[in-house]
Amino acid sequence: MELRIVILPGDGVGVEVIAQAMKCLRVVCSRFGHSLETGEELIGGVSIDATGQALTSEVIKKCKDTDAVLMGAVGDTKYDDPQAPIHPEDGLLTLRKELALFANIRPVKVYDALIDNANIKPEILKGVDFIFVRELTGGLYFGQPKKQYKDEKTGQRCAVDSMLYSESEIVRIVKVGFELAQKRNRKLISVDKANVLLSSRLWRQVAIEASGEYPEVELSHMLVDTCSMQIIRAPKDLDVVVTENTFGDILTDEASMLAGSMGMLPSASLAGVPQEDSIAFGLYEPVHGSAPDIKGQNKANPIAAILSVAMMLRYSFNLRQEAQVIEQAVEKVLEEGYATCDIMGKDKKQLGTVEMGELIARYIEAE
Ligand code: IPM
Ligand code: MG
Repeated sequence: MELRIVILPGDGVGVEVIAQAMKCLRVVCSRFGHSLETGEELIGGVSIDATGQALTSEVIKKCKDTDAVLMGAVGDTKYDDPQAPIHPEDGLLTLRKELALFANIRPVKVYDALIDNANIKPEILKGVDFIFVRELTGGLYFGQPKKQYKDEKTGQRCAVDSMLYSESEIVRIVKVGFELAQKRNRKLISVDKANVLLSSRLWRQVAIEASGEYPEVELSHMLVDTCSMQIIRAPKDLDVVVTENTFGDILTDEASMLAGSMGMLPSASLAGVPQEDSIAFGLYEPVHGSAPDIKGQNKANPIAAILSVAMMLRYSFNLRQEAQVIEQAVEKVLEEGYATCDIMGKDKKQLGTVEMGELIARYIEAE
C-alpha cells in the first residue's frame, strides 16, 4: 500500500531520533513492498525561528491532508522565558487541537533487559505492561476561561485555567479505554479526583454510563493521587488506564521511569477510537522531549521514536505484522545488551543514536 506521512522533526534531539525512525520505516516498507510518500515540515522553535510562528497554517493544512504525522519533539531553552509571547510547545498544542487528536495512547512496557535500569525493585517491575489513555484536547490545557488578569479589589495579578469537560469529550475518550481493554485483559481503570473536583464527578458518572456498552469489561475507578502511588507500588496491577489531560501528562512521566528511561516510550495521538477493522488518523511521537542538553551529540535514544513508527503502522495503517517486526527488532537489540547512554548498565554495549538506529534497521531487514 501507499503510506502518506508528514514528518515534523521539530527541535533538539527530535531531528536525530526521527532520522533513525525514518530509516527503520523505509526498511520495513521496502521489505513488505509498501511505498512511502513523505514531506518534512517545521514545528516548534525551528518554526518560530523561520516563520515567527510555532506552527504555520500551511503546515496544519499539510498535516490535515495526509494519512499520519510523525513528530520528534518541541522545546528550546531559547524560548523558555514565561513572558515570551510564543513558545515552541504552542505548535504542538495547536496541532493536537486542529487535528482533533483527543486520544493519547502511551504504552508502558518494561523490557527484561532494562529491569536493572529503573530505581524500583526487579520483582515489582518484571512483566509490567500497561497502557495509558490520556485525554488530549480538553481540560486545563484548553478550557476557558484561561487568562491572566488583575483583580479589581486587591489589585493583584491573578491567573486562571479551567478544567472544563463536556460529556461528549469524556465519553469518546473513555470509549477508547474500553476498546483497548476489550482487546487486552478486559479491565479498565478510570483515574479522576472525584472526591474534590466537579469535572471528575462528571467524568466518573459518564464513565459508568459508557460501561453499559461494554459489559465484558470490568470498570474501576482510582483517585489520581492513589494512582501516582500505585504506579510505583504495584504497576503490574495496571492494564488500561484512562484519564484526563493534566493527570495523564503527569502520570505518564512518572510511569516512564518504570521503563528505565523516557527514551523508551512511544506515543500515539489519535483522532478516532481505534477499532479492529478501521484505521484512525494519528500523530506519533516519542514521549521524551527535545533534551537540549544532549542535542547534536549522537547520544539520544531513538527507540521511543522507532516504536512510535510501529504504533503508526498499527493504528493508522492497520499493518500489524510490520509493526511487530519493528517491535521484535527493538527487543532483540536490547536482549543482546546494546544500549544508548540513558539505558547503559553493567555488561552493556554502548551505541550512539545513529548506530542504534542502524542496528535496529538491520534486524528489521533480516528478521
Ligand atoms: C507531553 C508534553 C506536552 C504536554 C508539552 C510539550 C506541551 O509534556 O506530551 O506530555 O504537556 O502535553
Ligand atoms: Mg508531558
